[in-house]
Amino acid sequence: MTEIITRDAEATVALGEALAAVVAPNDVVLLSGELGAGKTVLAKGIARGLGVSEEVTSPTFNILLVHEGRIALNHIDLYRLERVGELEDIDYRGTLESGGVSVVEWGDRFAEAVPENHLTVRIGILDDEVRFFELLPGGDRGRQLAGDWLERSRSLEGVEIGEDAS
Ligand SMILES: Nc1ncnc2c1ncn2[C@@H]1O[C@H](COP(=O)(O)OP(=O)(O)OP(=O)(O)O)[C@@H](O)[C@H]1O
Ligand SMILES: [Mg+2]
Repeated sequence: MTEIITRDAEATVALGEALAAVVAPNDVVLLSGELGAGKTVLAKGIARGLGVSEEVTSPTFNILLVHEGRIALNHIDLYRLERVGELEDIDYRGTLESGGVSVVEWGDRFAEAVPENHLTVRIGILDDEVRFFELLPGGDRGRQLAGDWLERSRSLEGVEIGEDAS
């Protein structure tokens, strides 16, 4: 198990940029963690790293916002959905496979909607400005992505990487 810690929001943005540097089309990143944990901040960093120039805001009310970048960013927020069937309204599965990178806030909300290959990032609040990120990869691609992201993040300022034996 590997955990990442960031000491401020800026470090979380840098962490997102590092993830953007290693993603490929159709990668799926699921973000979980309580309100205000930092899911949107991480998504902003990913957007920056993908070269998205427009402002990235929380897609809570739109559910899905697509941003043009080096690779398109599908920024999704499942917070307001009540039933898994509502995912069909945004063609969730089709969107995940449309060639972009999908970043899904509250992405663990419906277990049956989690694709085999994915990287879940569980974000927790440790202190005012301190957050931890637990990487929970699924499938070969998820594990590859987690490994590449960690490698890329080791030298970032304000980012600490800790590993335990579990
Ligand atoms: N280390 C940190 N990483 C990320 N955000 C931080 C950090 N320290 C403080 N913050 C602050 O925490 C807040 C995180 O808000 P954000 O909108 O990203 O949360 P969220 O997880 O997307 O919440 P929601 O479920 O409401 O969408 C921001 O105000 C940000 O400035
Ligand atoms: Mg958010």
